[in-house]
Amino acid sequence: MSPWLAIDRLSLTEGGTRIIDHASLQLAAQRTVVLGPNGAGKSTLLRLIHGLLHPSGGALNWPRKLTQAMVFQRPVMLRTTALANVIYGLKLKGHATDESRRRAMESLARVGLEQIALRPARLLSGGEQQRVTLARAWALEPELLILDEPTASLDPASSREVERIINEISASGARILMTTHNLGQARRIAEEIVFIDRGRIVEQTPVAQFFKLPQTEAAQRFLKEETP
Ligand SMILES: Nc1ncnc2c1ncn2[C@@H]1O[C@H](COP(=O)(O)OP(=O)(O)OP(=O)(O)O)[C@@H](O)[C@H]1O
Ligand SMILES: [Mg+2]
Repeated sequence: MSPWLAIDRLSLTEGGTRIIDHASLQLAAQRTVVLGPNGAGKSTLLRLIHGLLHPSGGALNWPRKLTQAMVFQRPVMLRTTALANVIYGLKLKGHATDESRRRAMESLARVGLEQIALRPARLLSGGEQQRVTLARAWALEPELLILDEPTASLDPASSREVERIINEISASGARILMTTHNLGQARRIAEEIVFIDRGRIVEQTPVAQFFKLPQTEAAQRFLKEETP
């Protein structure tokens, strides 16, 4: 498989600290989960890939520039209806009003929220709000969907619902690149695990192998500590 993104010695330094340290990585899998301890640099790496941060060194080489969307741990909702939140994203991308409305309704239906489309988004539950953000992202039909701990604030039932939606978005063709501290979730979603520690790429391993026997001691220690 040829990579859809080749990361070459990417670094990010802030206030003298190297947050991402010469990270080189070829991403070719359709679903990649980035694991690592708190402060390892997972969110920073994802933000660099989404273009929200500028690297201090190195490069992101896209063989073909992909359309992308990003979802965060805490849903960011505009003070309006769930539907208008989804429409907003589409209009920003230049879609006409009617077309935006149709696509937004379709997308809300796919995440099971057509019934509450006209409710104020900020009054929805955390799980519902996260589904609105997934509908907003999905409506854009991104080729790459980046998610930074999308279920960290949710209860187990809502988390599983969000996982189901992520898998459907993947099945519809989008590449998935995400982080989570939920190892069960990583197993269920990932094809490939990228393990990072202190800003460095430590290993990149197919999911079954990673959980059976990771290649590095750092990852073995991490799994031992994270497994209850
Ligand atoms: N703008 C910044 N300036 C200085 N330090 C920063 C900045 N952003 C992040 N850091 C530091 O960089 C390190 C990596 O942060 P990051 O949020 O990427 O980690 P993470 O792997 O996502 O952690 P978590 O699992 O807790 O979400 C942390 O030590 C953090 O404090
Ligand atoms: Mg993080």
